[in-house]
Amino acid sequence: MPRLLFLIALLASAVRRGAVDASIVDGLEVGFYGQTCPDAEGAIRNVVNNEIGMNRGIAPGLIRLFFHDCFITGCDASILLDESPAGDVPEKESSANGFTLVGLRTIDIAKSTVESMCPRTVSCADILAFAARDAAVAAGLPSYDVAAGRRDGMRSNMDDLPGNFPVPGHHVPRLTELFSQRGLTQEDLVALSGAHSIGGAHCFMFSNRIYGFSKDADVDPSLDPDYAARLRQVCPPKNPNNDPQQAPKVKFDARTGESLDTAYYSELLARRGLLTSDNALIEDAQTRAMVEAFARDEVMWQQKFAEAMQKVGMLDVLIGADKGQVRKQCRLVNGQEQQQQPQPQQQQRQQQLPWLRPQPHFPWLRQRRPPRPFPRHPMGDLINGFFRGFH
Ligand code: HEM
Repeated sequence: MPRLLFLIALLASAVRRGAVDASIVDGLEVGFYGQTCPDAEGAIRNVVNNEIGMNRGIAPGLIRLFFHDCFITGCDASILLDESPAGDVPEKESSANGFTLVGLRTIDIAKSTVESMCPRTVSCADILAFAARDAAVAAGLPSYDVAAGRRDGMRSNMDDLPGNFPVPGHHVPRLTELFSQRGLTQEDLVALSGAHSIGGAHCFMFSNRIYGFSKDADVDPSLDPDYAARLRQVCPPKNPNNDPQQAPKVKFDARTGESLDTAYYSELLARRGLLTSDNALIEDAQTRAMVEAFARDEVMWQQKFAEAMQKVGMLDVLIGADKGQVRKQCRLVNGQEQQQQPQPQQQQRQQQLPWLRPQPHFPWLRQRRPPRPFPRHPMGDLINGFFRGFH
């Protein structure tokens, strides 16, 4: 019931103003840290800008992290947890995430920066929302308000993803269904997909389109042939023995791939959408009309994208002192850090999952909860997850 009221309020607000810019929405508040940590937003912005200054790839990574967090169990920073106190395998290790997550270290730096200013005040879930906005702005989007006051969740389970999360092989009906289950419209889907105007995808995410596509065509005929030929040059044929982590990454937008803009939509119309799910947006009449409209009108898309990001940021948020917590470290639920003693089995697992190895800048990351068996081989998991489609 509260969720329904919230959605009605949200829609009313959106219709009235053309943007979800109320200063308080269902308990979230723009300027939430004005009294308790007035410099937090600025400090996070500085960290994000510094990190992006050193590596442009951080900007798309942060936007994607935020979306992946909020879409599954809401904006509760569950994507950041290394371990789950309940013993579940965390979301981070799902095939939709794993080593493809970018920007985790930036969130750690932002968190330790705000912790040194105002201990136990600014939640990791809010840091993700601010950082995604700051990343979008650094990539060229006009700024937008981020309401805050989210608290951090205390569980994370990769089993929450299958059947609930979009995968590269999905087409519009399934994408629309998944988004609508989260209270997001088809227009939100098309507007948010514009995030694919920055960053890129590893070859194995779309190699089914350029090798052995069907029994009649080796290459997906919906792809522009020159584009497909270029992709084949960069991406080697599918080979289960290839290490996915070594797979090349291809920019979604070969023209303006570091700028968050509407070139993504023009590329789609030119049959240069990288993923099946990107190309799908021009195959459905309704979403195609939106793609064409966004390709024509950059300002309208910027507005819709910002509104949709604000909506994403309100998904199943934890609000109030009795819900969740403000984590001390974004990778661990409070109290978990004391339980940690490295074990041989754990060390072995860290070798199997090099993308989860502790990072030297963050000594606390060496502290991990007692080990539990790793469920599947990571490469098998990736390939099964993406090409068989989670469900
Ligand atoms: C509609 C369904 C979607 C699907 C199936 C999808 C799938 C993917 C895949 C497979 C990748 C490549 C990951 C890699 O190989 O490293 C990717 C990258 C990315 N996605 Fe999506 N995505 C979707 C929607 C979104 C949304 C709604 C956002 C943000 C609002 C988003 C933001 C990004 C960004 C920024 C990247 C580039 C990441 C990087 O370069 O590090 N995606 N997405």
